[in-house]
Amino acid sequence: ARKKPSAARGLRFAPVPPNTADTVTVPEGYRQNVVIRWGDPILRGAPAFDPERQSATAQAGQFGYNCDFLALLPLKGERGRQLLVANHEYTNEILMFRGYDSENPTREQVEISWAAHGLSVVVVEEDRGSGRLTPVPRHPLNRRLTATTEFRLTGPVAGSDLVRTSADPGGTRVLGTLNNCAGGTTPWGTTLHGEENFNQYFANGSRATDRRYGVGSGSTERKWERFDKRFDLAQEPNEVHRFGYVVELDPYDPTSTPRKHTALGRFKHEGATVRLTHDGRPVVYSGDDERFEYFYKFVGSKRMRHGTSRSAREHNLTLLDEGTLYVARLTGDSPALEIDGSGRLPEDGEFDGSGEWIPLATATADGAVSHVEGMTAEEVFVFTRLAADKVGATKMDRPEDVEPNPVTGKVYVALTNNSRRGVDSNPAADEANPRNANKHGHVLELTERWNRPESTRFAWSLFLVAGDPKDPSTYFAGFPKDSVSPISCPDNVAFDAHGNLWIATDGNALGSHDGLFGVATRGDRRGELRQFLTVPRGAETCGPVIQDRRVLIAVQHPGEVDGASVERPASTWPDGPGTYTRPAVVAVWRADGGAIGV
Ligand code: FEO
Ligand code: CA
Ligand code: CA
Ligand code: CA
Repeated sequence: ARKKPSAARGLRFAPVPPNTADTVTVPEGYRQNVVIRWGDPILRGAPAFDPERQSATAQAGQFGYNCDFLALLPLKGERGRQLLVANHEYTNEILMFRGYDSENPTREQVEISWAAHGLSVVVVEEDRGSGRLTPVPRHPLNRRLTATTEFRLTGPVAGSDLVRTSADPGGTRVLGTLNNCAGGTTPWGTTLHGEENFNQYFANGSRATDRRYGVGSGSTERKWERFDKRFDLAQEPNEVHRFGYVVELDPYDPTSTPRKHTALGRFKHEGATVRLTHDGRPVVYSGDDERFEYFYKFVGSKRMRHGTSRSAREHNLTLLDEGTLYVARLTGDSPALEIDGSGRLPEDGEFDGSGEWIPLATATADGAVSHVEGMTAEEVFVFTRLAADKVGATKMDRPEDVEPNPVTGKVYVALTNNSRRGVDSNPAADEANPRNANKHGHVLELTERWNRPESTRFAWSLFLVAGDPKDPSTYFAGFPKDSVSPISCPDNVAFDAHGNLWIATDGNALGSHDGLFGVATRGDRRGELRQFLTVPRGAETCGPVIQDRRVLIAVQHPGEVDGASVERPASTWPDGPGTYTRPAVVAVWRADGGAIGV
């Protein structure tokens, strides 16, 4: 008789045990390489990385810092090559500059940091006979977008009084994108990038709306406001209203001006992921990553055009400008019950319930309409958090990636953690966020009514409650807990072709390093979670891309540990002792060339 397979198809590898090795650890029989690191030159004329003599001009032609979201897109006509798009979420100057004086950064250091933010587009090439990927420097599609690149504001807020500044009286041209965390790839061949913790770049906030978004009232840690007045709200009060959007990039057109789509609302967008309705309209999910914040859905009203003609591509770049923005409200179906040490389940045996998408505002070609009493449509799109407060949306435990499974249509919401849940006067556990002082986070599974992306009603249940499986408050979709990997702080998610959910973690609270995990979402192995890799000291795992024969991850902020600096590095990854720690992208493949996990 045939031996019963050891795991679900796509997840048949020997799980990597939790560890604290200062390296990327992959399963037995798998290989890896560093594809590209902070500072590697990608544009024509960019010099090799020399951290002791770094300049803003050099950095603007080199791969940026702290890579997060990754997309790998097809490149027709160039064999063995793909287009890599990466987010550079933020900079950590203490690990970038020797002798950095955080009270007195120099103009050059600040300008290097501006150039190390943003996005990279770089063609990568596969070694024949292995899964190794290497960059193709100076390829004409390679591109850097930074904190000073021109972007276009589109949608209902473009040109509004709320976004006009002295440098841009028309309110449509913004310099730069900041804190791009996760993102998504659209069915029309572009990429989406979420501007997340933009508040930290702006000084001297004073309005209630600034406070609601966490903009501080004094100077910033980075002190950028000393070098460009647009980062000082006392001088340019509207500049901050031009960040916190979903950015769309056409990576196939290096001359294109990327867009900030205001119809998707303004909040700390973790990312943005797209699916299509049966009649071809885009639906975009996005989480607002902060404790007790919400998650959202945008349903577009225009249909995607197929093909790669210029007119089709131009049309598709306007798809996210018209439609309705919704926020989620979840209702449990059992009497309130906190998951506690006893491992008790609710009366009906499941943490589950129903939900509705509450409309906030609709953008049309003829203007926008608010669905929130006391707020104009423009206010809803700029101060989206306040609109969601008013309609009674459900406060979640830090919504990170919200992503539909392309195989089943079910939507997964990674809720990374919330140590403040039920603490002091903060909201207590509810059926959708069932653990007080939630250190390890959980993952929600959501089914749109009739499995239609545009439905305004849905059902939900908890798919995973993270932690050490020996902890009775953990839950792995009902799978026996003696054979699953421990997991903590789910953040980015992705799917493989089998419909398995892959989860990257950020901030492991179990004492081992962050990593990447795969878990079956259906069949008799549903809930069987297995760890695929771990990352170096201080790093989080980001941007997973799961292809048939390759897994790609971003190792973000390796060596970011309290007290670490260039002089006292906490990690020697990836280049070894005596070198700067460098955030980097890693490819993993099977040594025998086979498909991942089969
Ligand atoms: Fe940048 Fe929500 O992680
Ligand atoms: Ca229930
Ligand atoms: Ca993230
Ligand atoms: Ca995170």
